[in-house]
Parts: sequence; structure tokens; C-alpha cells
Amino acid sequence: MLNQKLRPRRLRRSENIRAMVRETTLSVKDFVYPIFVVPGENVREEIPSMPGCFHLSVDRAVELAKELAALGIPAVEVFGLPEYKDEIGSAAWDAKSPVQRAIAAVKEAVPELVVVGDVCLCQYTSHGHCGKLSGHSVDNDATLPLLAKVAVSQAEAGADVVAPSDMMDGRIAAIREALDGEGFSDVSVMSYAVKYASGYYGPFRDAADSAPSFGDRRAYQMDPANAREAMKEVGLDLAEGADIIMVKPALAYLDIVRMVRDRIDRPVAVYNVSGEYAMVKAAAANGWIDEKRIVLETLTSMKRAGADIIITYHAMDAAKWLAGA
Ligand code: PBG
Ligand code: ZN
Repeated sequence: MLNQKLRPRRLRRSENIRAMVRETTLSVKDFVYPIFVVPGENVREEIPSMPGCFHLSVDRAVELAKELAALGIPAVEVFGLPEYKDEIGSAAWDAKSPVQRAIAAVKEAVPELVVVGDVCLCQYTSHGHCGKLSGHSVDNDATLPLLAKVAVSQAEAGADVVAPSDMMDGRIAAIREALDGEGFSDVSVMSYAVKYASGYYGPFRDAADSAPSFGDRRAYQMDPANAREAMKEVGLDLAEGADIIMVKPALAYLDIVRMVRDRIDRPVAVYNVSGEYAMVKAAAANGWIDEKRIVLETLTSMKRAGADIIITYHAMDAAKWLAGA
């Protein structure tokens, strides 16, 4: 039976009335744009599985950083491909590696842009795992001091935020202690606290040349079936001093985002990962979906689920669309 008094459609009659009652707004200030820096000069090569994303040498990364700032995007997250790989991933804390040089160059050219360094070893180890091996498994405690060195090297380069994505137990405490010990108490830690062992990372692993050479990451990343366990990870990272908590991937885990948002008092970030991006780009390239509509709807859903920060490869397009393009 139609209730004559309550007609929800009254508040949907025009764009302005819809705007007045809109519950969630997406802003360019929500975005972090991830970039992949590589050795060399004047390199700008499109990543095949991530159309619209590029491998950039440091000089071209600086150019892009200026574009990001001009679009109003507040932050960039830097990933890198090193000049060399070894068993323990020592290029990850080499001040001459592309990531450290890019962080310094971007901070110099665009000081207001927040620069986030991704802290992990998988792009730097010959075996592609996120830590030091002991036999065929990752040795948690032996990896912690290495991660701390990576974080300190990025802070020395000028990073505002370090973001550990390795999923070792105790890494936030190890990193916080090392940063503070070296005089970097102002550098924030954004923890990939809730990172699932996900099939959605495929395109990134091609882009970053970071696929494990044997086995998988299920012994350190979370089981996609688990929600309660997310709160255990979040609790530990909060206690260890994480400033921002991340949930990753985003779209298949919005229930987790909502749960975390409702239960903690620190900012929550989501990572709209490479596989989520690649699916949209592939469908759009085929003309099967309206890319702009799908992207803005998807990013809005992440905000609605409770994300304060969205790390997304769509950031530049979305910034232009939000500005009316
Ligand atoms: C590695 C890392 C991964 C991503 C960011 N850092 C993938 C992985 O765990 O293999 C994924 C990002 C993406 O898919 O966009 N520590
Ligand atoms: Zn890793």
C-alpha cells in the first residue's frame, strides 16, 4: 500500500534537491595517486595491464607530480623498480634507488605534495617475497630490521608518510621506533593493516616485477574469508602507533572498511588496487561500460563505506571529472 505522506521521490526531483540531501561526497582531496619509478632518464612507458599508468624515470615522475598538484590531488605514493635485486632486497634502502631519488626530487619540485613511500621488499628481492627467507618461508623477525631501514631511508629522502605493505607481525612498532630513533618523529606511518591475499594484485605484480618466484603470499597476507581477524590486525597496528589504517583491496572488502571505520578513531584508507582498475579499463575499452560513471560510482561507494583516503590509479581522471571535465 502506498503511504501518501511518505514519498521518497520528492527529494529526487531535481539535481539541486538531490545535491542538498546527498549523504556522501567525493573530493579530489580524498585521493592518493600511486606511481612506479624506474631507473634511467626520460622514460615514460605505459604498463600494458594498467592502461593510463606508466613506468616513469625520476625526471618524468617529477613532471607528473606537478600535474598531480595542479589537479589538486594532495598525495602521491611511490613504488619502484630497482637497479638490482638480491636475497634480502637491499636496493630497497639504497639512497640511490629510484624510489629514494624520486621522493627527494618530488619534494624539492613540489614541496606541498604529500609523498608516501611504500615500504616492502618484494620489488627488491630476487625471490619476490616480502621479506627475508629462511628456507622457503619468510622469516618475520629477521625482516623487521630490514623494513625499518627502508622506512628510515625514505624518511631521509624526504617522505612525509611511510606505508608498510609487507604484513609482517610487529612491523609498525619496529618502523616507528627506528624513525623516532633517527629523528623522524614527524613522519607518519600509514599501515596496510588489513591486507588480504588477493587475486586483484595481478597487474601490479607485472608492473612492479614483484610476483613471488615460488609459492604465494598466503602465509603472511590475510585470508579473504576473514573479517574478525581484520580487527585483530587493526588493534595491533593502532597499539604499535600506526597513524592511518588501510584496508586493501577496496571493492570486494567494503564490509571490512565499514567495520573498521565504525570501530576506530584514526583515519581509514582504502587501496583501490590494480586488478580493480584493470577490470574497469578493460570493460571500458570494449565499450561495455561508461567509464566515468562507473569510476565515480565506485569511488563514491568507498567513501560511503567509510574510507577517508582512497589510493587509486583513477585519481587523475576522477580529479578532472570532479572538476567538471
Ligand atoms: C607489495 C604490494 C602489492 C601491492 C602494493 N604493494 C602487491 C602484493 O602484495 O603482491 C598491490 C597494489 C595493487 O595491486 O595495485 N607489498
Ligand atoms: Zn611486498
